[in-house]
Amino acid sequence: MDKKILVAPSILSADFSRLGEEVKAIETAGADWVHVDVMDGLFVPNITIGPLVVRAIRPVTKLFFDVHLMIDDPAKYIEPFADAGSDMITFHIEACESPENIIKKIRDKGKKAGISVKPGTDVSTLDDVLGLADMVLVMTVEPGFGGQAFMEDMLDKVRELRKRFKGYIQVDGGIDKDTAARAVEAGVDVLVAGTSVFRQKDYGKAIRGLRGNG
Ligand code: DX5
Ligand code: ZN
Repeated sequence: MDKKILVAPSILSADFSRLGEEVKAIETAGADWVHVDVMDGLFVPNITIGPLVVRAIRPVTKLFFDVHLMIDDPAKYIEPFADAGSDMITFHIEACESPENIIKKIRDKGKKAGISVKPGTDVSTLDDVLGLADMVLVMTVEPGFGGQAFMEDMLDKVRELRKRFKGYIQVDGGIDKDTAARAVEAGVDVLVAGTSVFRQKDYGKAIRGLRGNG
């Protein structure tokens, strides 16, 4: 039986002057998760949003909130993002000393734990924590901005991971109809897509296209 491919539109590319409406629109259009890109201007050269915005959109939708922390010292912010309504909290292995400790913090708040690796980080850095995480996010662009080109060689990392990891594998950055098909082929379960959803007129068509039936 074909596994269900989950589509997580990234609100980084949404119209922030109408964020609530945009979140409702992707829910109606068939999105599975809402991908929330948090950036602190330190871990990545961009600043986006904090727990306040997660709290603001929480009542707007029942969709699963997939929060991607591109921040230094993520341990400090697990509680505020969990209390704001996150369902999955993903932090970067490059931003912490003890990923085990952060996963424990996330679990203690009853949330799912994801770990992300930047393009230059080898998947072997995850060896000690693969058994603890619900999801691994393989970045297919350098984190920091939407609208970048897909890094094809990251699919080798996905294939290697798929052999050893039973949880969700997520890709993020430059995902459109074509790259999505190759990512799913390599073993990906969750597709993050910013521009290829929010820059399109028909969100439903864009989401169906990512799933390969649009
Ligand atoms: C980049 C973010 C991605 C980005 C995806 O640092 O983590 O989620 O918003 O945007 P697109 O799909 O436009 O590459
Ligand atoms: Zn992201």
